[in-house]
Amino acid sequence: AIETGLRPKSLNDYIGQDKTKEKFRIFIEAAKNRKESLDHVLLYGPPGLGKTTLSSIIANEMNVNIRITSGPAIERPGDLAAILTNLSENDVLFIDEIHRLNRSVEEILYPAMEDYALDIIIGKGPSARSVRLDLNRFTLIGATTRAGLLTSPLRDRFGVISRLELYNTNQLTKIIKRSAKILQIPIEETAAVEIASRSRGTPRIANRLLKRIRDYAQVRADGIIDSNTVSEALHLFEIDALGLDNVDKKMILSMIENFNGGPVGLDTLSASTGEERNTIEDVYEPYLMQIGFISRTPRGRVVMKKAYEHFHLPYQDQSEES
Ligand code: ADE
Repeated sequence: AIETGLRPKSLNDYIGQDKTKEKFRIFIEAAKNRKESLDHVLLYGPPGLGKTTLSSIIANEMNVNIRITSGPAIERPGDLAAILTNLSENDVLFIDEIHRLNRSVEEILYPAMEDYALDIIIGKGPSARSVRLDLNRFTLIGATTRAGLLTSPLRDRFGVISRLELYNTNQLTKIIKRSAKILQIPIEETAAVEIASRSRGTPRIANRLLKRIRDYAQVRADGIIDSNTVSEALHLFEIDALGLDNVDKKMILSMIENFNGGPVGLDTLSASTGEERNTIEDVYEPYLMQIGFISRTPRGRVVMKKAYEHFHLPYQDQSEES
């Protein structure tokens, strides 16, 4: 319940993603003026950036209902048919992890998205026939970590494809101060900045750290979050000055110590950290690339000078090696 309380309800309260917000303001106003449904939207980007939140805001701004589900939750074509036939005119259907829809379900979605129709097979064998059922117009908002995970027939049916970006420290500071106010947690400006800079560009992480630091402040300090409390708490939680955790550290140190800084393939990183390939690509790499710690080359991932400096390790430029 608190979790949903932190979610902004309007585009004006949604911090960051300025380009995306500006585009949606236009698309929403235009669709509303025409009294039409908003075209189908694909949102992609690393987890925790507010894809579900933004979708709820879009539905809110369109004055329609939103039905929230996920790719893995829709097991059979009939499950999706039931959802689609229950939508009201111009409603939003939000499907998280849309790349995980199974093939037979995805095929129901094509005519639904394109013609607002459901093709139902009635009967079996030689007497089987297909009946077309009309649906209310609706907006599908699909969310995924990488657009490339979608099949191209599905991707092609979205009229708006939007990538959410990692947030900068300034934006995360605003989000943390807003959340602290809602949760009635006293926090100093410097402390909010400090938490923001350790949140890996991700509001979900910022809000999670805020709550755990509040716990620490309550039990080990005077309940007020200042920069000293933040330092102590994050030291205890093993989160370093840039927000890196033990998996990030293990990954980079293994690349340096075992592979001389790379290039290292994804499978090798997966084996050395015990994390899945997808988790490394979707969760760990975006931030490490954003802060310039690793870089992707055709032959694999390479550790950059900044990472060596952060871990106080001697850097030798590959090109200078004999
Ligand atoms: N909570 C999660 N994402 C947010 C955002 N972009 N703005 C405000 N609060 C948020």
